[in-house]
Amino acid sequence: MRSRLDNHNPSPKNHVLPSHNILHEAMSLDNVKHIVLVLSGKGGVGKSSITTQLALSLSLAGKSVGILDIDLTGPSIPRLLGLESAKITQAPGGWLPCEVHKEQVLPPIPTPPPSQAQNGTSNATPATNPTNGTTAPQQPPEPEVQAEPDTDAPIGSLHAISLALLLPSRSSAIVWRGPKKTAMVRQFLTDVLWPPTDYLLIDTPPGTSDEHISLAETLLSKSLPGQLSGAVIVTTPQAVAVSDVRKEVNFCGKVGIEVVGVVENMSGFVCECCGEEANLFGKGGGEIMASDFGVRFLGRVPVDGQWGVLVEEGRRPVYGKVESNGEGRYADEEGNVGEVDDKGRREDGLLVDKYRSCALRGVFEGITGQLIGIIEGQLDGNG
Ligand SMILES: Nc1ncnc2c1ncn2[C@@H]1O[C@H](COP(=O)(O)OP(=O)(O)O)[C@@H](O)[C@H]1O
Ligand SMILES: [Mg+2]
Repeated sequence: MRSRLDNHNPSPKNHVLPSHNILHEAMSLDNVKHIVLVLSGKGGVGKSSITTQLALSLSLAGKSVGILDIDLTGPSIPRLLGLESAKITQAPGGWLPCEVHKEQVLPPIPTPPPSQAQNGTSNATPATNPTNGTTAPQQPPEPEVQAEPDTDAPIGSLHAISLALLLPSRSSAIVWRGPKKTAMVRQFLTDVLWPPTDYLLIDTPPGTSDEHISLAETLLSKSLPGQLSGAVIVTTPQAVAVSDVRKEVNFCGKVGIEVVGVVENMSGFVCECCGEEANLFGKGGGEIMASDFGVRFLGRVPVDGQWGVLVEEGRRPVYGKVESNGEGRYADEEGNVGEVDDKGRREDGLLVDKYRSCALRGVFEGITGQLIGIIEGQLDGNG
């Protein structure tokens, strides 16, 4: 079947949307096993960061992963994955997602700084009661530290595509309003040619806009039975953010999308020098909400400055006494140095490889472990 996207010009000005519905005999989503939406009530709560880390963590668990970014309000997936200059290629039948990394065996993790190894903890994700989704009061998660070299099990591939990559410039997002945007989102959902993919994570705009309704309708009508696993809702401990997320939970209920669980981001703060945590906004909002709505609480994710360093500078996370010598080089107390390029270029190496040194990795291992369990049926998904 020839795609309606053949000869597609990505400029919104010249963009031609189909005037009629075309049946998708060979839908691009056919290669995808599980579809998970990532939702939040408002922007800036870390939805894209959570999406990215879920993807990296699932890949590290050996799953092939795709990220579909349809958030034009803050299209940060290309930046987080280092794909800003990527061009979307068109193949007969649809768009091709960008390859972030292939399925492969990663080299051993470079020796972690001794200060990390001393702090090593087991998986820090809070234990959740699977019968009611509540979590026993306990200390915030400690950063996980990679003490042992990884096994030689292959990681899964990661592909990603962002609606933002179709825009000639950032300001173009403003041009796409209302029905045009909605139609574009719908088309983007169905016309990306995913390779065989275990998990497709969809980073959505914040809130419950027309795009969400269109997204839900399209997914519910076009996905195969059992393919749409549901939504992960991201919140922060702030009450306002939590009340926004209540709307997301209600929205999912209304449109018939299951809530797989809630992740509370920016819950506590990891000091990258001393490893101690401070409490930024108070904790527990996400858990209380999850318990109120009878949905599963997947875990708390503390603020980790090294996550920012990893995605902004592409530098492998280093913990311990990190000090700048003023020349763009940072050394911990044992002299392990990280190179910061003054032109803003990233260090070489795969994001997924460097992410293994991030303290948040252990937290996400717990979260994705639960997700895989729920979605692949080892746990009762109803919280
Ligand atoms: N747990 C975290 N630790 C450190 N920085 C974080 C964390 N979560 C999000 N951030 C940072 O907060 C900012 C907003 O996150 P982002 O994922 O873009 O939010 P959203 O997609 O909800 O708008 C980004 O700069 C991101 O790197
Ligand atoms: Mg975002």
